[in-house]
Amino acid sequence: MDKIKSYIPKLHIMPPTGWLNDPNGLCQLGGLYHIFFQYSPDTPLGALKSWGQYITKDFLTYEYTGEYMKPDIPEDKDGVYSGCGLVHGNEIYTYYTGNVKMEGDYDYVYKGRGHNVILGRSRDGIHCDDKKVLLTNNDYPSNMSCHVRDPKVFKQDDKYYMVLGARTNEDAGCVMIYSSEDMFNWEFERFVDSADRFGFMWECPDLFTLADKHILSFSPQGLDAEEYRYQNLFQSGYMVLDDKPWDMNCKGFSDRKREGISPASYVVDENKFTEWDMGFDFYAPQSFVDEKGRTILIGWMGIPGADYDHDPSIEEGWQHMLTLPRVLTYDNTLGIVRQNPVEEIQNLRDGVVAGDMDGNYDLPGIYELAGKSATGFFEIIFDSSLVFKADDREVSLKFAGDTGYGRSIRKIKMSCKVQNIRIISDVSAVEIYINDGQYVMTTKHYPKKDMKRELKITGDMDLTCYKLKSMVFKK
Ligand code: FRU
Repeated sequence: MDKIKSYIPKLHIMPPTGWLNDPNGLCQLGGLYHIFFQYSPDTPLGALKSWGQYITKDFLTYEYTGEYMKPDIPEDKDGVYSGCGLVHGNEIYTYYTGNVKMEGDYDYVYKGRGHNVILGRSRDGIHCDDKKVLLTNNDYPSNMSCHVRDPKVFKQDDKYYMVLGARTNEDAGCVMIYSSEDMFNWEFERFVDSADRFGFMWECPDLFTLADKHILSFSPQGLDAEEYRYQNLFQSGYMVLDDKPWDMNCKGFSDRKREGISPASYVVDENKFTEWDMGFDFYAPQSFVDEKGRTILIGWMGIPGADYDHDPSIEEGWQHMLTLPRVLTYDNTLGIVRQNPVEEIQNLRDGVVAGDMDGNYDLPGIYELAGKSATGFFEIIFDSSLVFKADDREVSLKFAGDTGYGRSIRKIKMSCKVQNIRIISDVSAVEIYINDGQYVMTTKHYPKKDMKRELKITGDMDLTCYKLKSMVFKK
């Protein structure tokens, strides 16, 4: 069967060359999905950022359409940073952060950096026709550091709202909400703050509604690692809010503790933060609602500044991927958001791979596992290197020896035992969905080259293994 010759994925978006990070500008117009991403085509180590773009009609065949926005105005000269996409009539509006580093002896946190909110407009969705600067540092409240970025815009009751991620001068992460009647002129409304300090910076905020619940998603930086939480360098997660923070009449969680919380704050309870993904490689997710009404989330399979940033794919001239698009649903009973791959992915199934009683399979290069466990005790070993272990309510994902390229173990303390799993195994990535998407573990995984793929399953797991067809990526 297939041996691994290259780490190029067959089921995940990668940079055509060079480096990729956050998903940006996600939207659908006239049936076509637009998936933009933070892009540095010239080096797999990352450099000046632009927005690259893929389009797809079905999440199965993708076309790379080039660099959509490059740094070409003074207000984004040091990077077209992250932002969102909004369909307006027949146009796509992209709100993003223009990064500017001033010349001089600056720390670039409190001084010397411009973070501008810029609107790019496009009539064909493939070329950005013009850019207009909407907000600069002077428009942010005075207690803000220079780190204010990653606008996400949404419409509610005929008004537009923008959430921006920020770091205060006192190094507290927060979100700012702006509003606009016309999409061009924006007014500061309020902060979203935590009662206790929860990291120094909140990146890539998102605020959306799922089954009448309001979900605030963000990527906090600066949380201390714990045994079962915050195990990556930086996290991303969500809180389910009882009310609408953009409605100035609601007050938020009342137990204000931290100094510096302004009266204009909607205060959230940081204890309600739930991580989106418990694997090694997941950050900066963004959601959008598609034309079918599905709320879809895509994340970056990478962590900024992680000390294990030396993936072997660098030797092939590229680094990082985006996750599969995931449909979000709100589970009222558990009060959580479930994530499951969009149903289109099932079209990739191409027959069942036979396995024996000892859990040995003659594996293709890419495959899917779907199975059930009555007791919640089992182990799956991928390619003698990645060990997924379910031990009643404790689940772990562990790399053997140096096969994790610096990554070692991630653990989950579950609210119940593992009942079912679905695993999508790409050439160099694994996404593990546990208990109908209650928990997800996403990780890059680089089995040794020229090895035949292997799977070893022990314990109580009744599995079906499907061969998968490759997605199509036209470059
Ligand atoms: C998150 C992030 C964003 C920023 C972008 C720059 O990974 O740091 O906050 O806009 O990446 O590439």
